[in-house]
Amino acid sequence: MKNILPTPLQYKKNKLTFDGLYLDKIANKRTTPFYLYSKKTLDFYYKTFFQSAVKQGIPEPLVCYAVKANSNIEVLKRLKKLGSGADVVSVGELKKALAAGIDPQRIVFSGVAKTESEILFALKSGKKGIYSFNVESIEELELINQIAKKEKRIARVAFRLNPQVAAKTHKHISTGNKTHKFGLLKIDILEALAVPGFWTNTTLVGLSIHIGSQLTDMKATVAAIKELSNLAHEIELPLEFLDVGGGLGIDYTDEERMKLASIDLYMKTVSVALKKFYFDKSEDTPRIVFEPGRILVGKMGVLVSRVVRTKTSDNCHFTIIDAGMNDLIRPALYEAHHEVLPETKSKKMITTDIVGPICETADCFGSKKKLPTLKTGDLVVIDNAGAYGQTMASTYNERAIAPEILI
Ligand code: LLP
Repeated sequence: MKNILPTPLQYKKNKLTFDGLYLDKIANKRTTPFYLYSKKTLDFYYKTFFQSAVKQGIPEPLVCYAVKANSNIEVLKRLKKLGSGADVVSVGELKKALAAGIDPQRIVFSGVAKTESEILFALKSGKKGIYSFNVESIEELELINQIAKKEKRIARVAFRLNPQVAAKTHKHISTGNKTHKFGLLKIDILEALAVPGFWTNTTLVGLSIHIGSQLTDMKATVAAIKELSNLAHEIELPLEFLDVGGGLGIDYTDEERMKLASIDLYMKTVSVALKKFYFDKSEDTPRIVFEPGRILVGKMGVLVSRVVRTKTSDNCHFTIIDAGMNDLIRPALYEAHHEVLPETKSKKMITTDIVGPICETADCFGSKKKLPTLKTGDLVVIDNAGAYGQTMASTYNERAIAPEILI
């Protein structure tokens, strides 16, 4: 098998362990469902990501972790300790990043709908405000300039280029085409640069892209970096940074494992593309910003759940668990696959649908799955749930938000 990304899970004598601890021991003291995260695995992915960038000769890499993937404060504090900055998309995320101790000068603010109060808060964060507002429209640039003028400050801005490339991923998480609401077309960026009124209290410090999430194919990444580089040459202004966004995928299935780009391959692709399209043609040496989310936290987390009961309808068998689509919406929203693993392995297998308690047919974690026969109270884990799990949870059906534990 290619590309085995480390996970905290391992069977020992048919019993599931998490970071070497028996899962039943961890779960016995707690009510389910809950999210369980591994600090060790988090460290591994951050360090691997950062060191891979250094190894590939990327100048001064700045990792701005995409907080939306997992905004648990302990996770953020750990990432801060490891040297990470943050990519935020709301004042809520910004406040969390600051509460974790992340320096505002290591924070970029993305998102199409930054409001006046959010811009003001970001501008006033720390002595110099945040590292960059990654601007997604001309209207936003105008507003940032106005607010900065009122505050007698200079706002640091970068344009988020919409590079018009189609990333091969689920349509809900592809962001790099002009039909998507994200970023600005090159022509609009060039026009905005020529309007002096937009630049009285703003300064252009960088350019950014982000073409989508759960990317496994690197072709679109190369095409987007080419567009980013061409624009950087065309504007002929010294830039402090080029931000290549996030998006690197993880393996949720065996099929994905076969085609997945490893962290090293991703870094090599980014490095080669930047050299070819940018550095070979320029004297400038902007630092490179990354906005990884899923690759740093996806594998470190699982959702731990217990079987409520089983049920049979003619030839259909259901295993009903206490975690639902309100806890982990990815299967319902993107038809995403998350492996469900029994705490105890056994030879007595059954074909079953694993479903949650929510009153929706989409509340299903797997159809016709082969699993050991499970009974009320048995533990299962839903794997690879560290990214876009808890952060997308809701209280639908008046259910509580599942707690999180970092080991
Ligand atoms: N930067 C920006 C501007 C983004 O919008 C995103 C993700 C990222 C970075 C981080 O992307 P990542 O490295 O995590 O792929 N809820 C979906 C994913 C939505 C991603 C939204 N933007 C899911 O569960 O698959």
